[in-house]
Amino acid sequence: MIKSVTPANSLRGTITPPPDKSISQRAAIFSLLHDGVSVIRNYSPAQDPQSALACVEQLGADVTQLDDVVSIEGPGRYGIRPLSDELDCGNSGTAMRLLAGVLVGAGTGVKLIGDPSLSSRTMKRIIDPLEEMGAHILARNGAYAPLFVTREDPLVPMEYELPIASAQLKSCILLAGLFGEKPTKVIETLQSRDHTERLLNLDIEEKNGKKIISASLKDEIPNQSYTIPADFSAAAFWLVAGSIVEDSEIKMESVGLNPTRNALLEILKKMGADITIENERMEGAEPVGDIIVKSAELRSIHIEEELIPNCIDELPIIAVAMTFAYGTSTISGAGELRHKETDRIMAIAKMLKAVGANYEEMEDGLVIRGNPDFKFKSARFRSFHDHRIAMASAVLSLKGSDDSQIEDAECAAVSYKGFWDDLEVLLQ
Ligand code: S3P
Repeated sequence: MIKSVTPANSLRGTITPPPDKSISQRAAIFSLLHDGVSVIRNYSPAQDPQSALACVEQLGADVTQLDDVVSIEGPGRYGIRPLSDELDCGNSGTAMRLLAGVLVGAGTGVKLIGDPSLSSRTMKRIIDPLEEMGAHILARNGAYAPLFVTREDPLVPMEYELPIASAQLKSCILLAGLFGEKPTKVIETLQSRDHTERLLNLDIEEKNGKKIISASLKDEIPNQSYTIPADFSAAAFWLVAGSIVEDSEIKMESVGLNPTRNALLEILKKMGADITIENERMEGAEPVGDIIVKSAELRSIHIEEELIPNCIDELPIIAVAMTFAYGTSTISGAGELRHKETDRIMAIAKMLKAVGANYEEMEDGLVIRGNPDFKFKSARFRSFHDHRIAMASAVLSLKGSDDSQIEDAECAAVSYKGFWDDLEVLLQ
């Protein structure tokens, strides 16, 4: 589908961004591991969380979905039984990597498959440590899905220092570790999102600036009965849109404010954005609040490696903010972006090229020479079938003087099913 986006003079209104994609998928997978019933409210209808839910059902959970309430009766760690020999993770890297950990832990032989984008993303980062834990994994060219995962040898709990700041890798190893008599310890130097640790209530020790997270059979898996917060990574598009489109005021309700996810708030505030947070509270193990953003003139910023895991999914939309910020901004130490749903450094560069922005593509980031008065007429954007590139291109389109087009725009539904409708609401 090619979507045409009209320029905006103003964006106004109140919206509730979609349920958090990362937390929804974890809620489903952890409910499978919990022996009993979990009732998850505000479960995401987006494609990735629905793929995760279907996989969990295929592994023996009893799933009922009524509107946005999902009830899951989990068989528990000892009751996992595949109903088919193939699990389809669709576009979801989180589902594939977390489920691989579960399958290795449970010793269940299943094939994990995904769509062409997921099948082109390296799984080597999980294959190597899982094999150290006793798994046998057959992968296309040794690194890509389909992955056939089995474990015949006993599970080997291990101490594992993360070589990449990745929450998916961290969670994969911890989930396998949950099946071991002895604890598996994951050592983390750069903090990535901590939903797994929070929702499973895992033990965390801090030593020499590093976190050591443990998981073993002794950990009880709590039931996952809570309301999923609105997705901060989806709110991010409106935080930037509301800042760069003049005469705007957008309120977003019940948005997740997990401190390991929301570096964008500090980044935008440092850039001069007008953002207020109200009604901060806890929802289950996760902090949430309402966010109000108003138009503001932005200035440049430098984002370095330490902050990248805390804003990894927001970098495409941050690049849009940088385009309209006064001065030269940089993103560095973000090589991981090349391993997302598409090579996002390349895709951001192509998006900026389409409007004639002043930028340079680096191996591990971008240099963007911004200007609050930057103008372009219209553009035709390629989304590369990547939801975040499609949505970032839509926000960029709002600043043209004529309608712009976005190719394969339906991919926004991978994380944000109502994105195009919410845009209409804010344009009125
Ligand atoms: C996710 C972790 C991040 C993020 C992805 C979701 C998760 O990936 O980019 O969208 O749910 O754990 P990495 O762990 O590969 O950095």
